[in-house]
Amino acid sequence: MDTATVQRFIEGMKYESERVSPREGFPSLPDIPAGRYTDPEFLKLESEFMWRRSWLYACHIDELPEVGSFILWRKTGSPILIVRGKDDEIRAFYNTCRHRGGPLVKTACGKAEGFVCGYHGWTYTLDGKLINLRDKRDFPGLDMSTRPLIGVRCERFYNWIFINEDPHAEPLLQHTHPFFDYFKQFQPDCWRLVAQESFDVQCNVKVLLDAFLEVYHLKSIHQGTVDRFLDHRGTTIALYPKGHSIMVTPNRRPDWQDPGTRGMRRIESATIVSSKNNPSFNFYPNLVAPVDPSGVPFLLFWPVTDTSMRIECHWFAPDWGGGPPHELWKTRIANFDRILDEDLQFGPQIQESLMSPGFRGIPLSYQERRIYHWHEELDRRIGPDRIPTELRVTPLLEPFYESGIGDT
Ligand code: FES
Ligand SMILES: [Fe+2]
Repeated sequence: MDTATVQRFIEGMKYESERVSPREGFPSLPDIPAGRYTDPEFLKLESEFMWRRSWLYACHIDELPEVGSFILWRKTGSPILIVRGKDDEIRAFYNTCRHRGGPLVKTACGKAEGFVCGYHGWTYTLDGKLINLRDKRDFPGLDMSTRPLIGVRCERFYNWIFINEDPHAEPLLQHTHPFFDYFKQFQPDCWRLVAQESFDVQCNVKVLLDAFLEVYHLKSIHQGTVDRFLDHRGTTIALYPKGHSIMVTPNRRPDWQDPGTRGMRRIESATIVSSKNNPSFNFYPNLVAPVDPSGVPFLLFWPVTDTSMRIECHWFAPDWGGGPPHELWKTRIANFDRILDEDLQFGPQIQESLMSPGFRGIPLSYQERRIYHWHEELDRRIGPDRIPTELRVTPLLEPFYESGIGDT
């Protein structure tokens, strides 16, 4: 993160703390139509044009430690096999045999020399080539070289692996610009996986995701926790193309440090934006990363059905050397879970409201503008012409995108 960007966030927090109204020229945001959370046709479009064509976080390199290590990833509905090849490249394929669709692997993770389909035994290499099939004589003319496993786009953001089912998607690092540059300060190549957990919540995925795009709720549901050390009135927000955004919230006391992280390794090259404040990145659509120099949870929001979702927390920390992670991680994660419980508490009740005639749409404030930004991008992904007029969101925020920042 260059000096100008650091300066932009520091000045932004000061400006937000002192302002008495929204930024001059900022539009009143029209209500987000209620049907965007409930209408089955709309949610089908969301699934087809957004979830199935986005860059989505899949796993960390630590989860594929050796040649042949694989995981079976099913977050978009398609079974996707992510595997480390003999050349140490990470590749992804549909877990779908080219004969009649049998599975190559049946477990959530493991290690293989190659893949043998469970149905009739067609055999593939770790890089997806079909190399053998049973009773070849009965497939005269079948050219094995034309039947490799079908690949899925799989690219890396440092050691974090992302998947995209859209073969024409722009490269991950271009798509997430300038986040790659912003993350350099954390020396992310040395970060390791500490722990993972997940929670099921009975609400549409956007209900919970929205809560992680704003800090307007701190004074109500986090009164005894986050609100005690973060000052939501100073939150500065940066909106980027492609739906990405960052918010940075100042500590109430500038010298405050989370006691739960004391004694843990901290990355000294982290800028003041993250060492003394609290940045939270949204990699559109569903990865929220409130990164601290001592560790970060990657929070992932996954739709399960139209009315249920799963949140996953993948914790990472700078390399702690040998042995298990720092003993305080257990407490740190437990503390975070308590905060998460506060966020989760209203999910099912809000969902109940969404399905009732009492829910008419969502009026968003200036400080909730990341949610509007998120919805604007959703319409761009779906294509406004496919969306019924009454469910569209008017694009308004492009004039407020960050410009000239992070272009290093
Ligand atoms: S479906 Fe895989 S070998 Fe027949
Ligand atoms: Fe919250």
